[in-house]
Formats: sequence, structure tokens, C-alpha cells
Amino acid sequence: MSKKIKVAVLISGNGTNLQALIDACIAPSYPAEIVLVVSNKANAKGILRAREAGITTRIIDHTNYSSREDFDTELSMILSNSKCKLVCLAGFMRILSESFVNTWPNSILNIHPSLLPSFPGTKTHERALEAGVKVSGCTLHFVTAELDAGPIIGQAAVPVLDNDTPKTLANRVLIEEHKLYALGLELVANKILKNEKVDLRREQDTVSKSLLNF
Ligand code: GRF
Repeated sequence: MSKKIKVAVLISGNGTNLQALIDACIAPSYPAEIVLVVSNKANAKGILRAREAGITTRIIDHTNYSSREDFDTELSMILSNSKCKLVCLAGFMRILSESFVNTWPNSILNIHPSLLPSFPGTKTHERALEAGVKVSGCTLHFVTAELDAGPIIGQAAVPVLDNDTPKTLANRVLIEEHKLYALGLELVANKILKNEKVDLRREQDTVSKSLLNF
């Protein structure tokens, strides 16, 4: 079997992006393997998906910690122990502290359901519809201390339809998130395997073009 980059995935909910990564990792040639799934919610459906796939899981309930820093310190220790090289945020509904992000430089990926820098934060689809945009999509990016503002790895676009609701738009975007995440992780993991500098600006087009929907 070829060498693979160890990845941890952080979730809070349904875990369909996690599932897309689990499915991608099945291919023997895929350059990453998921060694750990962490959820801050005990009832996250994604935990069941991970168990089904035989992946080690951990629940770290943030309500048991008196501060964000305490939670992040524990999380960082658990990630270090897993020997992961990359951390994939997949619907992880916690803001990570600056010290956490600095402990994992160029190592944390996040999927966001809008074409950043438009609509960072929450309620993205509601805001996209209110703004009347005709194109939306998703962004895979590296995580920095600034929310949803790190270097973009790739984007995928979808049309916004006249009769869209936040739900219908979210569903259309989510399908693209799954493809983008699997492709983007492949790109980053391959770079690490080849000891190349992780600077994705030149590769960005390759990922994006292959995902343009219309
Ligand atoms: C996705 O839309 C992701 O972009 C956002 O939360 C949603 C999580 O979906 N941050 P899932 O848990 O991967 O199904």
C-alpha cells in the first residue's frame, strides 16, 4: 500500500462531508487516511459513520471546559497523540482559538458553504438569498486565526435558482462540498507526501475548474 498522510476529522453533526472523505480514503491510491474523528457533540451522526468505517472516535464535550483555551488545549493534545498531519474541519461548529491555530500551521482545512470571501460565518444560505446572488457555492480553505479567511484551496460554484430556499440551496451546495473536500485533501496530502511547500495558489484553478458546474 502506498504511503498515506494521517488525517483527523472534527465534526459536530451529520457528517456528510466526513462520509465523503471516508469514501475517498477507500481508494488504495488516495494519499490520506483518517486516523481519528473527534466530535464536540455526543449525538453527532458523524460519530456513527466513523464507527461504521472502523475509525477511532473521541467525544470532547465543550460544555465540560471552563474556557475555549482549555477545550482547545485538550483537543490539540488528542490530535497530537493521533499522529495526524492534517486536521479537517467538517461541519465543526466551534471557533478555534488563535493559539490552537498557531499550533497547527498550514495543517487545518475547513469547508465553508459559500464562495468566500462572501458570506463568512453562519446562516450563509439565508444571507446569499437575501443578497440576491445568482451564483453560490463552497470554499475549501486553510484555517487561520481570522474566521473563514485563510488561503483558499479550491472553490466550486452552483447556480442559485429563483425558487430556492435556504434548504434547497444548501442541498445543492453540499453535493459540491463533498467533491471539493475529497479533491482538495488529495491535493494537499500529495503535496505533503512529495515534500512540496503547501502553497496552493497555483493549483487553485485546477481544483476549481474541475468543479465548475455550469
Ligand atoms: C456543511 O454545509 C459545512 O460546509 C458547514 O456545515 C455543514 C456540515 O454538513 N460548515 P455535514 O455535517 O458535513 O453533513
